[in-house]
Amino acid sequence: MAEMISTRTREGAWATALLAGAGLLVAAGLVFAATPDKDWPVPPSAAQTKNPVAATEANIAAGKAIFTDKCVKCHGEKGAGDGPMAMMYDPPPADLSEPKMMNSMPDGEIFYKIAEGRAPMPSFKKLLTDEQRWQLVDYVRTLAPKPAPPSKSGSTGKSPRAASH
Ligand code: HEC
Repeated sequence: MAEMISTRTREGAWATALLAGAGLLVAAGLVFAATPDKDWPVPPSAAQTKNPVAATEANIAAGKAIFTDKCVKCHGEKGAGDGPMAMMYDPPPADLSEPKMMNSMPDGEIFYKIAEGRAPMPSFKKLLTDEQRWQLVDYVRTLAPKPAPPSKSGSTGKSPRAASH
Protein backbone atom coordinates (compact mmCIF):
# COMPACT_ATOMS: atom_id res chain seq x y z
CA MET A 1 0.00 0.00 0.00
CA ALA A 2 2.67 2.45 1.01
CA GLU A 3 4.42 1.47 -2.19
CA MET A 4 1.38 2.51 -4.30
CA ILE A 5 1.08 5.89 -2.67
CA SER A 6 4.71 6.80 -3.10
CA THR A 7 4.56 5.77 -6.78
CA ARG A 8 1.61 8.00 -7.34
CA THR A 9 3.31 10.88 -5.61
CA ARG A 10 6.33 10.40 -7.79
CA GLU A 11 4.13 10.48 -10.89
CA GLY A 12 2.57 13.64 -9.63
CA ALA A 13 5.98 15.18 -9.17
CA TRP A 14 6.94 14.21 -12.69
CA ALA A 15 3.80 15.72 -14.13
CA THR A 16 4.48 18.94 -12.28
CA ALA A 17 8.07 19.01 -13.47
CA LEU A 18 6.98 18.38 -17.06
CA LEU A 19 4.42 21.14 -16.91
CA ALA A 20 6.93 23.54 -15.46
CA GLY A 21 9.40 22.54 -18.16
CA ALA A 22 6.87 23.12 -20.90
CA GLY A 23 6.07 26.51 -19.42
CA LEU A 24 9.71 27.45 -19.46
CA LEU A 25 10.06 26.37 -23.07
CA VAL A 26 7.09 28.48 -24.08
CA ALA A 27 8.50 31.46 -22.21
CA ALA A 28 11.91 30.99 -23.81
CA GLY A 29 10.26 30.72 -27.22
CA LEU A 30 8.43 33.99 -26.69
CA VAL A 31 11.59 35.80 -25.66
CA PHE A 32 13.37 34.35 -28.66
CA ALA A 33 10.64 35.31 -31.07
CA ALA A 34 10.43 38.82 -29.67
CA THR A 35 14.04 39.96 -29.49
CA PRO A 36 15.47 39.48 -32.99
CA ASP A 37 12.85 41.83 -34.43
CA LYS A 38 13.86 44.62 -32.10
CA ASP A 39 17.60 44.47 -32.35
CA TRP A 40 19.30 44.59 -35.68
CA PRO A 41 22.95 44.67 -34.69
CA VAL A 42 25.29 46.55 -37.00
CA PRO A 43 29.07 46.26 -36.67
CA PRO A 44 30.36 49.52 -35.13
CA SER A 45 32.81 50.03 -38.00
CA ALA A 46 29.92 49.90 -40.48
CA ALA A 47 27.71 52.17 -38.38
CA GLN A 48 30.49 54.76 -38.14
CA THR A 49 31.24 54.86 -41.85
CA LYS A 50 30.78 58.42 -43.06
CA ASN A 51 28.47 59.09 -45.96
CA PRO A 52 30.72 60.12 -48.87
CA VAL A 53 27.75 61.14 -51.03
CA ALA A 54 26.56 64.59 -50.01
CA ALA A 55 22.83 65.15 -49.60
CA THR A 56 22.58 67.47 -52.56
CA GLU A 57 19.30 67.92 -54.39
CA ALA A 58 20.59 65.75 -57.22
CA ASN A 59 21.63 62.90 -54.94
CA ILE A 60 18.38 63.02 -52.99
CA ALA A 61 16.45 62.94 -56.28
CA ALA A 62 18.50 59.97 -57.47
CA GLY A 63 17.86 58.24 -54.15
CA LYS A 64 14.15 58.90 -54.47
CA ALA A 65 14.06 57.28 -57.91
CA ILE A 66 15.76 54.16 -56.56
CA PHE A 67 13.48 54.15 -53.52
CA THR A 68 10.41 54.32 -55.78
CA ASP A 69 11.74 51.47 -57.86
CA LYS A 70 13.00 49.13 -55.14
CA CYS A 71 11.60 50.06 -51.74
CA VAL A 72 8.11 51.60 -52.05
CA LYS A 73 6.36 48.28 -52.56
CA CYS A 74 7.26 47.38 -48.97
CA HIS A 75 8.06 50.62 -47.19
CA GLY A 76 5.44 52.77 -48.90
CA GLU A 77 5.56 56.09 -50.74
CA LYS A 78 6.41 58.04 -47.60
CA GLY A 79 8.44 55.27 -45.99
CA ALA A 80 5.81 54.62 -43.35
CA GLY A 81 6.01 50.85 -43.79
CA ASP A 82 2.68 50.71 -45.62
CA GLY A 83 3.61 49.75 -49.16
CA PRO A 84 1.23 47.65 -51.27
CA MET A 85 3.11 44.45 -50.35
CA ALA A 86 3.73 45.31 -46.71
CA MET A 87 0.98 43.14 -45.31
CA MET A 88 2.56 40.02 -46.75
CA TYR A 89 5.56 40.31 -44.50
CA ASP A 90 6.39 39.38 -40.95
CA PRO A 91 8.06 41.24 -39.42
CA PRO A 92 6.45 44.13 -41.30
CA PRO A 93 8.58 46.66 -43.18
CA ALA A 94 10.02 49.27 -40.86
CA ASP A 95 8.54 52.75 -40.65
CA LEU A 96 11.36 54.86 -42.06
CA SER A 97 9.48 58.06 -41.22
CA GLU A 98 9.55 57.34 -37.49
CA PRO A 99 11.81 60.07 -36.08
CA LYS A 100 12.86 58.38 -32.85
CA MET A 101 14.25 55.36 -34.65
CA MET A 102 15.65 57.15 -37.67
CA ASN A 103 17.32 59.98 -35.80
CA SER A 104 19.17 57.49 -33.61
CA MET A 105 20.49 55.68 -36.68
CA PRO A 106 23.68 57.02 -38.23
CA ASP A 107 24.02 57.08 -42.03
CA GLY A 108 26.44 54.15 -41.94
CA GLU A 109 23.88 52.01 -40.18
CA ILE A 110 21.17 52.74 -42.76
CA PHE A 111 23.68 52.02 -45.51
CA TYR A 112 24.64 48.71 -43.91
CA LYS A 113 21.04 47.61 -43.43
CA ILE A 114 20.20 48.36 -47.07
CA ALA A 115 23.27 46.39 -48.13
CA GLU A 116 22.65 43.34 -45.97
CA GLY A 117 18.88 43.26 -45.66
CA ARG A 118 17.25 41.00 -43.12
CA ALA A 119 14.50 38.57 -44.05
CA PRO A 120 12.02 39.38 -45.43
CA MET A 121 13.93 42.47 -46.58
CA PRO A 122 16.29 41.50 -49.40
CA SER A 123 19.98 42.36 -49.56
CA PHE A 124 20.75 45.15 -52.03
CA LYS A 125 24.51 44.69 -52.04
CA LYS A 126 24.52 43.11 -55.47
CA LEU A 127 21.60 45.06 -56.90
CA LEU A 128 22.84 48.57 -56.21
CA THR A 129 26.21 50.27 -56.29
CA ASP A 130 27.68 51.86 -53.16
CA GLU A 131 26.89 55.27 -54.59
CA GLN A 132 23.26 54.33 -55.20
CA ARG A 133 22.94 53.05 -51.64
CA TRP A 134 24.38 56.27 -50.21
CA GLN A 135 21.95 58.23 -52.39
CA LEU A 136 19.20 56.11 -50.85
CA VAL A 137 20.50 57.03 -47.41
CA ASP A 138 20.34 60.71 -48.42
CA TYR A 139 16.74 60.24 -49.53
CA VAL A 140 15.64 58.06 -46.59
CA ARG A 141 16.92 60.84 -44.32
CA THR A 142 14.25 63.15 -45.74
CA LEU A 143 11.40 60.81 -44.71
CA ALA A 144 11.53 61.36 -40.96
CA PRO A 145 11.24 64.78 -39.35
CA LYS A 146 14.66 66.02 -38.26
CA PRO A 147 15.43 66.21 -34.56
CA ALA A 148 14.72 69.62 -33.12
CA PRO A 149 17.84 71.75 -33.45
CA PRO A 150 19.86 71.67 -30.22
CA SER A 151 18.10 74.53 -28.51
CA LYS A 152 19.26 76.93 -25.80
CA SER A 153 19.63 74.61 -22.81
CA GLY A 154 18.85 70.98 -23.44
CA SER A 155 15.20 72.02 -22.76
CA THR A 156 12.08 69.84 -23.08
CA GLY A 157 11.92 67.16 -20.28
CA LYS A 158 12.56 64.51 -22.94
CA SER A 159 16.26 64.12 -22.30
CA PRO A 160 16.20 60.94 -20.12
CA ARG A 161 14.79 58.93 -23.02
CA ALA A 162 17.26 60.38 -25.51
CA ALA A 163 20.20 59.87 -23.20
CA SER A 164 19.40 56.18 -22.73
CA HIS A 165 20.44 55.33 -26.26
C1 HEC B 1 10.32 42.81 -49.44
C2 HEC B 1 10.01 43.99 -48.68
C3 HEC B 1 11.12 45.02 -48.48
C4 HEC B 1 11.81 45.71 -49.45
C5 HEC B 1 11.71 45.57 -50.96
C6 HEC B 1 12.67 46.63 -48.75
N1 HEC B 1 12.52 46.49 -47.40
FE1 HEC B 1 13.49 47.56 -45.95
N2 HEC B 1 12.65 46.41 -44.54
C7 HEC B 1 11.73 45.42 -44.77
C8 HEC B 1 11.44 44.75 -43.51
C9 HEC B 1 10.47 43.61 -43.32
C10 HEC B 1 12.23 45.40 -42.52
C11 HEC B 1 12.31 45.04 -41.05
C12 HEC B 1 13.34 43.94 -40.91
C13 HEC B 1 13.60 43.56 -39.48
O1 HEC B 1 13.40 44.38 -38.58
O2 HEC B 1 14.03 42.44 -39.27
C14 HEC B 1 12.98 46.42 -43.20
C15 HEC B 1 13.87 47.28 -42.58
C16 HEC B 1 14.52 48.31 -43.21
C17 HEC B 1 15.42 49.24 -42.55
C18 HEC B 1 15.87 49.15 -41.11
C19 HEC B 1 14.96 49.76 -40.12
C20 HEC B 1 15.33 49.28 -38.72
O3 HEC B 1 14.42 48.81 -38.03
O4 HEC B 1 16.49 49.32 -38.34
C21 HEC B 1 15.83 50.13 -43.48
C22 HEC B 1 16.76 51.32 -43.28
C23 HEC B 1 15.20 49.76 -44.73
N3 HEC B 1 14.42 48.63 -44.53
C24 HEC B 1 15.38 50.42 -45.92
C25 HEC B 1 14.99 49.89 -47.15
C26 HEC B 1 15.36 50.47 -48.42
C27 HEC B 1 16.12 51.77 -48.60
C28 HEC B 1 14.85 49.65 -49.39
C29 HEC B 1 14.99 49.76 -50.89
C30 HEC B 1 16.35 49.69 -51.39
C31 HEC B 1 14.16 48.57 -48.72
N4 HEC B 1 14.27 48.75 -47.36
C32 HEC B 1 13.49 47.55 -49.37
C33 HEC B 1 11.16 45.06 -45.97
C34 HEC B 1 11.59 45.51 -47.20
